[in-house]
Amino acid sequence: MSGKVLMPNENREISKTPGHWVLAQLGKKVLRPGGKELTQKMLKGLGIRPSDRVVEFAPGMGYTARLCLQQSPANYIAIEQNEQAADIVRSYLDGKTQVCRVGNAQDTGLGNAEATVVYGEAMLTMQSHARKNEIIAEAARILATNGRYGIHELCITPDDIDDDKKRTIQKEITETIQHPAKPITPLEWKQLMEDNGFEIEFEAIAPMHLLEPKRMLDDEGLAGLLNIAKNILTKPSARKRVLGMRKVFRQHANNLSAITLVVRKKQS
Ligand SMILES: C[S@@+](CC[C@H](N)C(=O)[O-])C[C@H]1O[C@@H](n2cnc3c(N)ncnc32)[C@H](O)[C@@H]1O
Repeated sequence: MSGKVLMPNENREISKTPGHWVLAQLGKKVLRPGGKELTQKMLKGLGIRPSDRVVEFAPGMGYTARLCLQQSPANYIAIEQNEQAADIVRSYLDGKTQVCRVGNAQDTGLGNAEATVVYGEAMLTMQSHARKNEIIAEAARILATNGRYGIHELCITPDDIDDDKKRTIQKEITETIQHPAKPITPLEWKQLMEDNGFEIEFEAIAPMHLLEPKRMLDDEGLAGLLNIAKNILTKPSARKRVLGMRKVFRQHANNLSAITLVVRKKQS
């Protein structure tokens, strides 16, 4: 890449910018709810090997892409909706066996059974029920039989939570992140996978501590955290957004978690 790297949604008014891009503009690299630790559990469950053909949905800033490439898969294809994010991810890739295409996870243009591993983080929660299903069905289509699919998303607990309470949480998260968000319960996530021909292999839950100082230190390192802190201090409108998001996450801390699932495509 040459010249100044444009961050996603950089020219948009900050009060209307989706929360994940506000955080990215402040320097945050880890944009998924369970942080690096849950990502590592997902990757361990996926067990990526040099023989694997990997597809990542929505790589964002490319944080997990780099962890995945350390396992030297046979190839890596990312499908990212946002052009600036795709440019950033491409800067980590060789452009031959490792590519990032601008596109939609629900319609990747890839062939049937082209992949042995598919994963995507913090990208299904922000979709409607119908679109979640389309994306999971697309993962099933492009995976070979026995292929593994990993997700890492926000969930609402417990499984038998009152419907009104669930809707209130979904509404308040949507408002604070300025982007539609429909987190669902662990049971509902697993059901969606089973409905699309997957069997559950691995499941882990972590607290939703995306904006808590200890998690931010673990995820971003000391230099990263100090850079984000400096940006938060010098950008009042972004600071207002971050504090607003953290307030809602804290308010619902007892009913909000991060979940990772690793599932396997069954023989059809
Ligand atoms: C919250 S960010 C998460 C980024 C990254 N996966 C991470 O966990 O750090 C959501 C990402 O999903 C992408 N995205 C949303 N819907 C998508 C879709 N239907 N197809 C491809 N990318 C999508 C956005 O452009 C953004 O990069």
